[in-house]
Amino acid sequence: MKLEELDGRAAEIIARYEYPKAAMLPLLWLVQENQGWISPEAETWVGKTLGVARSHVREVVTFYNMYHTAPVGRRELRVCTSLPCLLRGSGEVMRRIRDELGIEPGETTADGAVTLTEVECLCACEMSPMGQLDEAFTGPLDDGAMDTLLRTAREAPETSTPLPEPEPYISTDGPILSTRFKNVEGTWFDEYVADGGYRAAEKALKTMTPEEVIQEVTNANLRGLGGAGFPTGRKWSFVPKNSEKPVFLVANADEGEPGTFKDRYLMERDPHALIEGMIISAFAIGSHKGYVYIRGEYFRSAKRLQRAIDEAHAKGWLGKDVQGTGFDLDIVIHRGAGAYICGEETALLTSIEGGKGFPKLKPPFPAISGLFRCPTIVNNVESLCCVPFILRNGAERFAAIGTETQGGTRLFCVSGHVVRPGVYEASVSVTLRSLIEDAAGGVRNGKKLKAVIPGGISAKVLTADQIDVAMDFNALMEAGSMAGSGGVIVMDETTCMVEALDSASRFFADESCGQCSPCREGTGWIHRILKRVGAGNGRLEELDDLLAIAGDMEGKTICVFADAAAWPVQSYITKFRDEFEDFIRSGRAIGKREADACPA
Ligand code: FES
Repeated sequence: MKLEELDGRAAEIIARYEYPKAAMLPLLWLVQENQGWISPEAETWVGKTLGVARSHVREVVTFYNMYHTAPVGRRELRVCTSLPCLLRGSGEVMRRIRDELGIEPGETTADGAVTLTEVECLCACEMSPMGQLDEAFTGPLDDGAMDTLLRTAREAPETSTPLPEPEPYISTDGPILSTRFKNVEGTWFDEYVADGGYRAAEKALKTMTPEEVIQEVTNANLRGLGGAGFPTGRKWSFVPKNSEKPVFLVANADEGEPGTFKDRYLMERDPHALIEGMIISAFAIGSHKGYVYIRGEYFRSAKRLQRAIDEAHAKGWLGKDVQGTGFDLDIVIHRGAGAYICGEETALLTSIEGGKGFPKLKPPFPAISGLFRCPTIVNNVESLCCVPFILRNGAERFAAIGTETQGGTRLFCVSGHVVRPGVYEASVSVTLRSLIEDAAGGVRNGKKLKAVIPGGISAKVLTADQIDVAMDFNALMEAGSMAGSGGVIVMDETTCMVEALDSASRFFADESCGQCSPCREGTGWIHRILKRVGAGNGRLEELDDLLAIAGDMEGKTICVFADAAAWPVQSYITKFRDEFEDFIRSGRAIGKREADACPA
């Protein structure tokens, strides 16, 4: 399709936003979906359509890793090699794919059929080792699944058979977030209403004041479940009352922390819970426009959520005069394009505004000056999905399910060396041991536990004797780590900690936005040193160099990304120093582990 033929579609997209420039990412997606890549001519067209310089379009295109700046194959095969996938064999998977396709990552087969891309976590670690063929997730990639994947990848997209649906382990028995996860194809409007859905929104809109809603959520002890753990009701209370500027609500669905895969289930299997949570939250903060920022890799989540939004519009739960209450609310889905940093709330807002995902200095906090410099609340998907339960059942009941400082349950994502990787809903008072041993079936193959990351790859690693800890924010902080995004990554006694840290350091070096020097340079240095160590050419004194670099990054940048990159370095080297020293002294190398195993 010619670019000019996209003018009408572009106008429709621009109309959803407050300013044309904010339509940058969706217009780039539109071009790529129609032309396969974003050519220089397309950059010029996007710039002209949005009224911005082509140079700005160019810097946006090259910032996000899902946009193609050169022609690609008919199909794109994306293979994840982040830590949870590495622990379950992604190295072998990548080797076989490279051998059979005869190409390296970043290359296209000679017949133009397949482009191979190595990617960081797809946030489907429960199915690791994991791949994505065009829009479809596929995993775990055992030999049989690999045969199917390699055959399908060479077929024409229009005529090929869909890849089999993965069958992960997940909670389906609530009590708050996962009750409707049994609906594999998604819970749609009628089922949701039959299950008590939208009663909480009705109660809030028809019988409560915004202040009463905020108080109820505050009393429930709901804390931000994206990672920061900030009390949700308190955050809402920061929005100025009677603001002259519009107020925005943004659902952060840019799930990207390796080891985390919960928001995808909420959006795909229970999308109306998110919409209802957004209606109540928007009412509480005085917002009439909500955005859902969904990571680019989540094609299906975006489609299912859009279908639910359309249903909610049709049933009078979105749009003008919701249910005759005089309250208006629209929700727009905004898709990211492959940048972990956009999970940081200010980077996410910059991305919606049509720029590179660069975090901003705080203060001012988004509640005062956020999206388009207007008061904005950014809440994680899971936090928003807890809100209908609180309004329907009362703050006391929600608070009683958790601990003194944090109410409710969480969706814990367990990956790595366990019998049953999956999503498990449990009270935040559950212990890490119980999640690993009871929910996920313990360490697989009868091996001993060596280490656990309790809250996504950024969290400090815990040793096997530290797992009798509750999974709430405060308890994990006291244990020297953090609850983060609820991603539990389990490592057994065969894990090489040098290789694990090398993998984490590659992730942070790849994903640093590059804005702050300590982070841009520090993540690069750490990764280069660890690569040298991993290749068998390390020096013992470099362990102290790594700790020094990590120390120089912590607390010295605009956002906490640099801290998150420093914490694994500090905890791995401190807790497993003997292993690192032994590895260096022996001259062993990562990748030769079969012949020369890492220390147990
Ligand atoms: Fe591969 Fe998460 S999907 S590490």
